[in-house]
Amino acid sequence: MDSRDTDWDGVRLHVVTGKGGTGKTTVAAALALALASGGRKVLLVEVEGRQGIAQIFDLPPLPYEERRIAVAPSGGDVYALAIDPEEAMLEYMEMFYGMRRAGRALTKMGIVDFATTVAPGFRDVLVTGKTTEAVRRRGKNGKRIYDAVVLDAPPTGRISRFLNVTQEVAGLARVGPIKNHSDLVSKVVKSPETAVHFITLLEEMPVQETLDGIAELRSAGLPPGGIFINMVRESLLPQAALDSAVKGRFDVAELTLGLKAAGLSDGASSTAEALAEEVAEHARRTVLERAERASLAQETLPSYELPLLTDGVDLAGLYELAEAIRTQGAA
Ligand SMILES: Nc1ncnc2c1ncn2[C@@H]1O[C@H](COP(=O)(O)OP(=O)(O)OP(=O)(O)O)[C@@H](O)[C@H]1O
Ligand SMILES: [Mg+2]
Repeated sequence: MDSRDTDWDGVRLHVVTGKGGTGKTTVAAALALALASGGRKVLLVEVEGRQGIAQIFDLPPLPYEERRIAVAPSGGDVYALAIDPEEAMLEYMEMFYGMRRAGRALTKMGIVDFATTVAPGFRDVLVTGKTTEAVRRRGKNGKRIYDAVVLDAPPTGRISRFLNVTQEVAGLARVGPIKNHSDLVSKVVKSPETAVHFITLLEEMPVQETLDGIAELRSAGLPPGGIFINMVRESLLPQAALDSAVKGRFDVAELTLGLKAAGLSDGASSTAEALAEEVAEHARRTVLERAERASLAQETLPSYELPLLTDGVDLAGLYELAEAIRTQGAA
């Protein structure tokens, strides 16, 4: 891939994880748009069967098939794929055993259910297998089909097991096609072509999950990628005002005078009280956020901040987040 001087040049598989609800699907979609911009081709993959990508791009449910869903800024295409583990299993059986029809019968008999729900390691290897196949796939000219693949992955608590496929299928298969398949997946996941990014908010629980997730990933022999701090609110006040507000020294009398001077004499003092309380609340939150930022900074990983979109995430908002990702050098 031609270089364009981002923090992740050379990475072809971007795995996006984080605590539930922190914005994994949103950031994965924005990252895909950012990576595609300037005429590239990027595949956005989801694995949880919840049709989150379709929802975010305002599309009908996606089939188990790669299709173009968006055009990136200054050209470039985002394709999407919603992986259905059952379909992935049938495809796998056809690929290795030429038994797609048998596979259909096995579905009816509940054997696919067994493989996908009772043996979650096998389910995961099918999903990661499909994803890494898209990463490796080449066209007739020998060039890779996709410049990058972005995976909207399971949450932090499950990410290491999800990616550590060889470990997980070791008990299922020591030799044969499943083993070969998982070795191939593992090779991609552990290579410098893969980065695992963490999405977090500046709140205690998601930050703790991020730090735990990073540690767990490292102990599985997988280096973490970047940290994306999502839903960052603008700081409304200068530092000095925040400091005094936290200490409860925000000057209510002065505020009352200010309100009166502005022509609000009725109830100026109670308005000033209420305002001062809001300022104190905002200040307390800012202090907590600063502490969370400091905890994350211990990791010395590349980190990016994405604004809280106050009107929610529509398509325009998604492009706005993609732009923030680009200008900070993440794509
Ligand atoms: N930067 C943002 N500004 C405003 N709202 C956001 C932002 N990012 C995400 N959201 C909203 O937060 C909610 C959760 O986002 P999203 O679905 O992407 O999270 P998730 O981590 O994928 O959740 P889940 O764990 O359920 O898959 C959504 O309603 C989304 O629109
Ligand atoms: Mg999601």
